[in-house]
Amino acid sequence: MTITTDKRSTLRPALHFTAEKMWINDPNGLIHHNGQYHLFYQANPYGTTWGNMSWGHATSPDLHNWTEHPIAIPCDDEEEIYSGSIVFDDTNSSGLGDNDAKPLIAIYTSAYKPSSKRSGTQAQSLAYSLDDGTTWKKYTNNPILTRHSAHFRDPKVFRYTGTDDTYWVMVAVEAEQREVVIYKSEDLKHWEYLSNFGPANATGGVWECPDLFPLPMDGDPGRMKWVLTVNLNPGGPNGGSAGQYFVGHFDGVTFTSETTEADDSTDPGQQLQRYDWLDWGRDYYAAVSFNDAPDKRRIMIAWMNNWDYAEAVPTAPWRGQMSLPREVTLATRNGRPHLIQRPAVSDLNPASEPSAAKEGPIVLDSSECQLRAGLQGAGIIDIVLHIQDSGEVGFRIQGPGSEIRIGVRPAEGILFLDRTAARNTNFHPTFPSIDRAPAPTKDGRLQMRVYLDHNSIELFIHDGEITLTDAIFPDSPLTSLTFYALDGSATVDSCITTDTTWGTNGT
Ligand code: FRU
Repeated sequence: MTITTDKRSTLRPALHFTAEKMWINDPNGLIHHNGQYHLFYQANPYGTTWGNMSWGHATSPDLHNWTEHPIAIPCDDEEEIYSGSIVFDDTNSSGLGDNDAKPLIAIYTSAYKPSSKRSGTQAQSLAYSLDDGTTWKKYTNNPILTRHSAHFRDPKVFRYTGTDDTYWVMVAVEAEQREVVIYKSEDLKHWEYLSNFGPANATGGVWECPDLFPLPMDGDPGRMKWVLTVNLNPGGPNGGSAGQYFVGHFDGVTFTSETTEADDSTDPGQQLQRYDWLDWGRDYYAAVSFNDAPDKRRIMIAWMNNWDYAEAVPTAPWRGQMSLPREVTLATRNGRPHLIQRPAVSDLNPASEPSAAKEGPIVLDSSECQLRAGLQGAGIIDIVLHIQDSGEVGFRIQGPGSEIRIGVRPAEGILFLDRTAARNTNFHPTFPSIDRAPAPTKDGRLQMRVYLDHNSIELFIHDGEITLTDAIFPDSPLTSLTFYALDGSATVDSCITTDTTWGTNGT
């Protein structure tokens, strides 16, 4: 069954960006410019499966109301336009602007078609816009950087400022080698090789869509560290696509990780548990951050999908959805740097007052308790569970014929999301799953914020210390919440449900 939704349908994601009618994958060219957040993305203008890769485009003043625009950079006879990034060239270092208009510069991967004389290689190319990202021209001397390699892609460019120097830096991947390659440039057109990083930590699939950015440790600008994020497909902690990160130092030439793990476990599953994952779910891939976000915030968006089954997900005429924008910060946890992720637009609902319902405490004594939560398939659920002596405590989110189960097993220190009974699941054999994340309790409690949408659940545990994101495809809205405890008792200290009227896509 395919769930067909028009732009205003109540079953189309309400909190998450979708294109009106086409296939989309990776977020590209994320930049805040002249008061607008720009979200470009891999798009197939002619269909709902991967192909004809071009850059689609949407803008938002606030990260939750998005307006979709015409295709920004279309594929042509020579090349497909793979993932990349955008910088604002405010000094016109590229010479591609003119006095009145400073250029936005897109650096993307040219994936050459069989008819091209460069067929079989991927190289980096430029396009520029003199009208704030509305229209784009390709640079005539493309490509600007080639290694004559078949898998050199996904350039993320940013302005690096050291103690006495400033220049453009590009991180890209040699995907099959599991290597991040780092280059520098004065003018965005000529690039000099600096160094490479990897393979390291998870290497069970190709490395794609890297990013590199500084963040203060524990909010202290005197203790800056650098974060290198790398997406990996397959090889994630619950199977298929996922993103991992490293924390360390970047001196303008070389990235040095201080969080690489020794590869000495005999159990590959256990080895994967040790790595630092951006998200533990099955549907958080190709995550990259915005350039030039206001107030030095570091905000990331991922494609909420998994290459294992992405082309089969049962939606139409759209296919592919973006995660919520997440603000990331660095904090010390267990004596090491850890990425904290929180939705960048918290629980704001500027359009109208959210309808919130608060319940609790509720004692669960090897019993179930259904809340008349009045969910309407999309909203925010804030929960504090006091585990006490129960072996498993959790809740079910249900709608007609559909059930998602989210629970904690304190003895194992894990959280799980079971979507095996979340109709529709049979569109691909790898889709039905029970996905797990480490989730130690704190003071015997587990705190979580659930962003429920018609086609996804994003879980933020302990205020963003652990996240788990899974797509779901129920064919009618999920409306009820039922708590349960097994093998002992537990208490729901509090449960606040907030329906949301957020609209994406200009609705
Ligand atoms: C990641 C990716 C990128 C590539 C793009 C092609 O999902 O495979 O490496 O640039 O998608 O659409």
